[in-house]
Amino acid sequence: MKIKTIVFNWKMNPKTFAEAEHIFLAVKKGASGLKHVKAIVAPPSIFLRELSRGYRGKSVSFAAQNIFWEGEGSHTGEISPVQVKDTGADYAIIGHAEQRARGVTDEEINRKVLAAIQFKLKPIVCISDTEHDSEGEYVNIVRHQIKTALKKVPPTRFRDVVVAYDPAWAIGAQEAPGVNSIHQMTLLVRKIILEAFGRDALKHIRVLYGGAVNAKNAEGILSIPDIDGVLVGRASLDAKELHALLLTANRV
Ligand code: PGA
Repeated sequence: MKIKTIVFNWKMNPKTFAEAEHIFLAVKKGASGLKHVKAIVAPPSIFLRELSRGYRGKSVSFAAQNIFWEGEGSHTGEISPVQVKDTGADYAIIGHAEQRARGVTDEEINRKVLAAIQFKLKPIVCISDTEHDSEGEYVNIVRHQIKTALKKVPPTRFRDVVVAYDPAWAIGAQEAPGVNSIHQMTLLVRKIILEAFGRDALKHIRVLYGGAVNAKNAEGILSIPDIDGVLVGRASLDAKELHALLLTANRV
């Protein structure tokens, strides 16, 4: 049975560390002993060290929600991949749609991906179009984003790369797109990875879907044969939802 990667992206939530501990406890309990799930929690980076310091288990890994492309230096307000690694995190989300919407470019995303690789973090690269126009322009956008973000990634590190197809129009929506349409989109992502980076990349890079995933629709989405997991926003802040989601991921 395939291992499912579940990324819990808390975004700029919750408001206090006490609440963060409470949600994390639910993740810890929910993920413990599950053999077919890799749970990755991405809390606000100000909570990262303390959450990971108190954790002795193996079922949960930690991610930053963003990194800068330099290891250190005069970059006020930025977070270095080296500092992230030092908190005990193994992953970094890069190029989330909410970052792209604030002007982060494909080239900057590529620099961040290469910095993550250089400093031994595994990049969770978010690919996001803003609308599915009838002319199919989104296909070109998705292709350009993938090709640029993964440029110069050494083939030996493909196994550390996660690509999350996370369309801006599905993030925060009431409903996720239908299973068929998510399937089509993940096939497109895989095809682009194959064309641009070859068979080895296709074999090793994990492909996730993100956008309005919850405990109810997770079963359908995670049953798609070409999906390696999901990236979850809102539902990752609710103890019951996230627990149910982890159990489903372990089962399908
Ligand atoms: P959502 O967010 O699950 O709240 O829609 C998903 C995301 O940010 O990718």
